[in-house]
Amino acid sequence: MLVLNEQELDTAVEEIKKKNIVIFPTETVYGIGADCTDSNAVEKIFIAKGRPNNNPLIVHLSDIDKIKDYAIIENDIERKLIESFMPGPFTIILKKKSNISSFVTCGLDTVGIRIPSNEIAHKFLEKVGVGIAAPSANLSSKPSGTNVQDIINDFDGKIDYIIEGGESRVGLESTVVKIINGIPTILRPGFITKEDIESLGLPCNIGSGVLNKVDNNEKVESPGVLYKHYAPNSKCLLIYGTNKDNLLDLVKEFNTDNSVIVGSNTLKDIPCKQFINYGNSLEEIAHSIFTILRSVDKYEPDLVIIEGVEKKGLGLAIMNRLLRSVSFNYIEK
Ligand code: TXA
Ligand code: MG
Repeated sequence: MLVLNEQELDTAVEEIKKKNIVIFPTETVYGIGADCTDSNAVEKIFIAKGRPNNNPLIVHLSDIDKIKDYAIIENDIERKLIESFMPGPFTIILKKKSNISSFVTCGLDTVGIRIPSNEIAHKFLEKVGVGIAAPSANLSSKPSGTNVQDIINDFDGKIDYIIEGGESRVGLESTVVKIINGIPTILRPGFITKEDIESLGLPCNIGSGVLNKVDNNEKVESPGVLYKHYAPNSKCLLIYGTNKDNLLDLVKEFNTDNSVIVGSNTLKDIPCKQFINYGNSLEEIAHSIFTILRSVDKYEPDLVIIEGVEKKGLGLAIMNRLLRSVSFNYIEK
């Protein structure tokens, strides 16, 4: 159990006040944050990550009553989603107020707002007192950072301060939702699912970019879906079998002595260079998948074969990340 270290938080707050960038834990993944009202500070995040400057950041706040300082809640659906899922692994896209730097939103008139439930994140945000713009803590196109060691490997020397917070509980980034034509629409799936939103008695759509490749020329609601993401350097193939026999058939078709297999216990006895068990529940898979994706290149495989899951509940979020990590090299049987 990690103990809250007040001195560590005070140092982090000082760094933010000096317009510097700080890495901090949340329950989803680590964030790399700066004062959301200061363009010079926010620009440092884009430079450190190598992030395209048309992919907006989300703003993190300590409490629901702070939302009104940065954004406008325009209707009862937004209010209901906020009351139901915040604090937690949920981001809502709202009309922005003018104090947020346009660097955060890349010129859009909306802003993603998130209130983490992680205790260290909450204390940090409370102490710093200003909204913190923060994307996931990883180099652009790499898997999001879910532990400090992975993050240090990515950013070695380029970060002003890191608040230690152990392994991220969820392991996948927050669910991003925007109300489009009066209907909550999931732009990026996460731990809060379509089913969770529907259980409030609300309809819920899935954005077109969630399971599909997005054409650069299409108007996109969530620019993040455009980019290559979560990708190892090795060639990867994602497979999904609608039953065990189909799954094993697919593995046998593509497997070689020099492949890495990432999947459940069902695949553990198949001869290959390395088998990596990603867990046996959706929660375990979500928790471990980014660290595993970061580890596969060291085996220098010809191919990484990854077992897919059903695109339902938390499985939708897992498949959204895996499809991107394999650049949509996907076969289903
Ligand atoms: O769990 C999380 O959300 C983590 C932690 C650190 O809070 N943050 C995170 O941020 O994943 P990032 O920048 O890696 O992903 C934010 C996503 C991107 O896909 C971005 O395009 C989308 O949210 N987004 C941000 N602002 C938006 C806006 N105004 N309209 C539509 N999409 C937006
Ligand atoms: Mg990210």
